[in-house]
Amino acid sequence: MPDTTITAPKATPTLPDAQEVTSVTHYTDRLFAFRCTRPQSLRFRSGEFVMIGLMGDNGKPLLRAYSIASPSWDEELEFYSIKVPDGPLTSRLQHIQPGEQIILRPKPVGTLVLDALLPGKRLWMLATGTGIAPFASLLRDPETWEKYQQVIVMHTCREVAELTYGRELIEALPDDPLIGELVEGKLLYYPATTREDSPIMGRVTDNLKSGKVFSDLGIAPLDPEHDRAMVCGSLDFNKDIKAILEEAGLREGANSSPAEYVVEKAFVD
Ligand code: A2P
Repeated sequence: MPDTTITAPKATPTLPDAQEVTSVTHYTDRLFAFRCTRPQSLRFRSGEFVMIGLMGDNGKPLLRAYSIASPSWDEELEFYSIKVPDGPLTSRLQHIQPGEQIILRPKPVGTLVLDALLPGKRLWMLATGTGIAPFASLLRDPETWEKYQQVIVMHTCREVAELTYGRELIEALPDDPLIGELVEGKLLYYPATTREDSPIMGRVTDNLKSGKVFSDLGIAPLDPEHDRAMVCGSLDFNKDIKAILEEAGLREGANSSPAEYVVEKAFVD
């Protein structure tokens, strides 16, 4: 009797909450960014984070919090990441290629959102290292530019090459078809390094405390009536910046009680 058993073609195993990587850009041996497809149901506010990752060797998802670096209107998602050689996730994620899958839990959360701030005139974006990621989202969101008369981005990294992701994004803003006109005359960019010579040197904290940033940019010092701040960096950075902002009279806000500044921890593996 002929064998009539039909064997189903072997399907490529699909991860739960899988998204496909569409592009990968490496900036330094410590930093890379990638884009992936966006779940149709995913709605988020610029500045929020989600859990993303890969399937672990034990068959369980290995997930970490990552700020979404793309704006809420973008049809894809973008993430900016550090590479930690022995980091459980980033040691593998850094080798991801277009066409491969990542896991993405579509539940965005976070405090680094415009809704958690009271109305103001100037918005300070204060970041170290990969802490620029949520600002990459907020800077490409028209709402940021509609709500504020001036946006000041202070980003400090150890070395010049580590500023590249933020710098390229910020330099492209005036030519952006959606927000180019809104940005005109409103953006002040203050990129600095601490361990390699560059035109602006020093930690964000030191340049605020000494008043260097105000004199370099020709602007008034912090004023709780008009200034709003969003902070994203290492735990130590966040703690030190909070002290400076509080000293200047700004209070920490949250989704439920908006105030003058908000803080988010940058992803570290
Ligand atoms: P520094 O080189 O003086 O340590 P990292 O790559 O370690 O996350 O650091 C990113 C940037 O953040 C570096 O320029 C580093 O400066 C700076 N930084 C680290 N800790 C603090 C802090 N507590 N306050 C302000 N800046 C900090």
